[in-house]
Amino acid sequence: MDEAFWDDMYRETSRKWSGKPNPQLVAEVSGLKPGTALDVGCGEGADAIWLAERGWQVTGADVSSVALERAKEHSAEVKWLHLDLTKEHAPDTYDLVTAHYVHLKPKEDMVLVYKRIAEAVAPGGTLLIVGHDKQEMHRHEIDVPDDIFFGAEEITSLLSLDEWKVEVSETRTLDNPDHRMYDFVFRASRVTPR
Ligand SMILES: C[S@@+](CC[C@H](N)C(=O)[O-])C[C@H]1O[C@@H](n2cnc3c(N)ncnc32)[C@H](O)[C@@H]1O
Repeated sequence: MDEAFWDDMYRETSRKWSGKPNPQLVAEVSGLKPGTALDVGCGEGADAIWLAERGWQVTGADVSSVALERAKEHSAEVKWLHLDLTKEHAPDTYDLVTAHYVHLKPKEDMVLVYKRIAEAVAPGGTLLIVGHDKQEMHRHEIDVPDDIFFGAEEITSLLSLDEWKVEVSETRTLDNPDHRMYDFVFRASRVTPR
């Protein structure tokens, strides 16, 4: 799942810009004091823009140039960054690092990406990961390999738990008009420097 894969996905997706932030982001971040933020896999940018509107100094990063071009049309306030976390590190550390629905193959790439996502959190900062729960994909009755999911066990195995305080690690349901969604939500604070 490289840059060409994601560019093709965005080209094939009809443009239905809702501009709405992820409800889990709103629930988890509304109470935090704004600072610097990195949204990894920002796609067309709605979550990064929501953060910027709340006073965060935001970098929206994605491997897809097609997605970033669209994101740029929606906001000049966010810094949009072309970044492939399988190949490079985030350029800085941030008070908040978020990733919404970043599911990758092969598993080694996903592990590397999430390791780098966690490394980008500054001391005292917050990590927020929102992903599809296994139940969510299996609901579609498509054959999705289990290793495309990244849950509590995988995330905590990447974190040294004396450096992190896990605040939230749970599956939540979200009732949309047409179906129920299952999100995995993980929020942790980096309590000590690396
Ligand atoms: C399913 S989309 C989610 C987009 C957006 N976060 C949302 O919630 O709508 C996953 C995103 O991760 C990005 N991505 C995939 N691999 C990446 C990588 N190695 N480095 C940075 N971004 C990546 C894709 O281009 C895509 O925009």
